[in-house]
Amino acid sequence: MNTAQFIPSKLHFSTLKSSHTWQTPSNIALVKYWGKSDPQIPKNASISFTLNNCHTITTIDFEKSDSQKEINFELFFEGQIKEAFKPKIAQFFERIKQYCPYVFEYDMVINSENSFPHSSGIASSASGLSAIAMCLLSLEKELNPSLTTAYINKKASFLARLGSGSASRSIEGPLVVWGAHPEIDGSSDLFGVKFPFKVHSVFENYQDAILLVDKGEKQVSSTVGHNLMYNHPFAEQRFEQANDNLSKISKILQEGNLDKFINIVESEALTLHGMMLTSNPYFILMKPNTLEIINEIWEFRAETKSNICFTLDAGANVHVLYPEKEKEKVNLFIEKVLSKYCQNGQFILDNIGFGAKIL
Ligand code: DP6
Repeated sequence: MNTAQFIPSKLHFSTLKSSHTWQTPSNIALVKYWGKSDPQIPKNASISFTLNNCHTITTIDFEKSDSQKEINFELFFEGQIKEAFKPKIAQFFERIKQYCPYVFEYDMVINSENSFPHSSGIASSASGLSAIAMCLLSLEKELNPSLTTAYINKKASFLARLGSGSASRSIEGPLVVWGAHPEIDGSSDLFGVKFPFKVHSVFENYQDAILLVDKGEKQVSSTVGHNLMYNHPFAEQRFEQANDNLSKISKILQEGNLDKFINIVESEALTLHGMMLTSNPYFILMKPNTLEIINEIWEFRAETKSNICFTLDAGANVHVLYPEKEKEKVNLFIEKVLSKYCQNGQFILDNIGFGAKIL
């Protein structure tokens, strides 16, 4: 795999001090990434909607240090020094150092905040790591002004992936594929690419309401979770199925068949949880209210002919997906019926977005 393209050849360390701020979104997978090998190579291709309102804003202040030394950074989250997040970021810098040798040349102060409530159970690693990657690329652009936007996005996705796989899908939008797939031109295990085909208008401004069922600490960290796919009795079939579902959903996204879309998206969510139910050790990450919500969604869909559907992350929260045309009706249903299954009645209304923004 061609990783040499991400090792910078000419850098001019003329910048002594600079500061860059990026806003990068979270994303929700339609076909899930679950299972990887070293270094952060997915076992199957995945595709996600980029979100809009759920995002991270990160500023990195860079200051040229006098002597070459170890990677040096301070980390603030929502204004407070955050030692707990440091090991994950330190590991990230360690993994990317050959691609970003300038991390040895600058002291860094990272200030980060999320638009979604703290410990809402919404994974912030995708938006968090993609924001850091974009800030690094802004510095790299100063050190080498010839970089193009296409290269910057590709390398930011490549770096973000090394921090957290799904973060590779949080640089661009509205639909991103990560993982080499024969039917997606330019797709790669190394970085995410924009879905290359024209998407049917029914998916324009598609809505995603995130129902916060359980805001507690994640029961299974993503590392432990992905590792469950080693020696999993159904692993190989699952990886094959995911690639096959990606072929199917690619066609569906172009043709606009919502019945088929709903079928694949819900099946992917339940299969992800099925993999956890059937691994050893085994986990149940859904809560009783997750199931209540799923049943309410199915009932509502049957009664009203709505195109509402759900998907799940590796947790108890539910993402409710629906076309913009149904926004009024579905938002009312969420408010009146589904919110009672959420912790403190909390949910977040979001829609698909277009990726990283410089601030
Ligand atoms: C269930 O990207 O969080 O959300 O690469 O270990 O950081 P790491 O894993 P992570 O896994 C996300 C898994 C998922 C499905 C998906 O987003 O595709």
